[in-house]
Amino acid sequence: MKTGELALIGHDIEGLWNLPLLQNAAAMSRASLVLSPDGPASRVADGSSGPLPPIEELLGRFDHVVACEAVPASRSVYDYAVPRGHLGVIVGNELAGIPRHLLQRADQVVSIPMLGQGLSSVNVAVAAAIVLYALRRDLGRKRLRAAGRSHRDVDLLVLGPPNPHELGSLFRSAWAFGWRRVFLADPAGVWFSEDRPTVLAGRAAARREVNRLTIMPDDRLDLRDYAAMVVCDGQRQGTPLSRFSLPEGHRILLVYGQPVARSFDFAGAVEHVFIDHADAEVMACYRHAGSILLSVVSQLLRERPRG
Ligand SMILES: C[S@@+](CC[C@H](N)C(=O)[O-])C[C@H]1O[C@@H](n2cnc3c(N)ncnc32)[C@H](O)[C@@H]1O
Repeated sequence: MKTGELALIGHDIEGLWNLPLLQNAAAMSRASLVLSPDGPASRVADGSSGPLPPIEELLGRFDHVVACEAVPASRSVYDYAVPRGHLGVIVGNELAGIPRHLLQRADQVVSIPMLGQGLSSVNVAVAAAIVLYALRRDLGRKRLRAAGRSHRDVDLLVLGPPNPHELGSLFRSAWAFGWRRVFLADPAGVWFSEDRPTVLAGRAAARREVNRLTIMPDDRLDLRDYAAMVVCDGQRQGTPLSRFSLPEGHRILLVYGQPVARSFDFAGAVEHVFIDHADAEVMACYRHAGSILLSVVSQLLRERPRG
């Protein structure tokens, strides 16, 4: 897909804190960001450019409109081949989602496959980052190949950031995309913390009331359990995620987080993978890069089609 033909449309976005996250998601994939006139976020973002036209009029500017929502009629974004032309991608309100009339107006409704019981969605900006990445890389046309392994074969080691919202949001994605446990190195003490506001912020972002992910300190990890390690640490080295396939060997440790400062006493094979979002100059938010990684690897771990 050519640069400049992609636009992210945030419909009725209420949380102003979501605005920089949506901006980052759009910038990563060289998409423009338009906010529908309904939410408070649009009044902040577009205060200088005068009133926006109604959403129906905005949608008329695109050759194709894709709505992102996990509803029974949606098609996996990993099975959707991107059409030519100017594409508008809608994400919806944090609680209500995209209203039915806009889902009907869209040419296609796409979803990010969800596996975690009790969670029906990921954070709106995270959803935008994943969908824009998949569309920009046209992963629906490339068809990620199932690796014949399951989530039980790939453990996660998360190198935590200093921000509890970012970490909690990543844990929401980890549960949503099928992991049941993670190991966490938490040098800034934002998850295994004594500070109540910090603890509450992380738990809220993780949707802990429905997210049953087991989070274990990294000293419980035994590296001898793994045949290979795959590291994604924000450095642009190794294999681009859109061309990545899982290494051989039964058990794999997937390491995600800040540049790996610690050295691993690991005897097996080590590979690097990076998130090849379209604009390499844009530094992806922690939750965005991690959630893209987990969503794509989860696709590689899905069951192979029979026959
Ligand atoms: C937090 S969700 C809205 C809540 C959602 N209606 C629910 O039932 O939980 C906010 C927006 O993020 C996007 N979104 C979140 N998870 C998604 C997924 N798995 N597939 C596609 N879009 C998703 C959609 O655009 C949705 O309108």
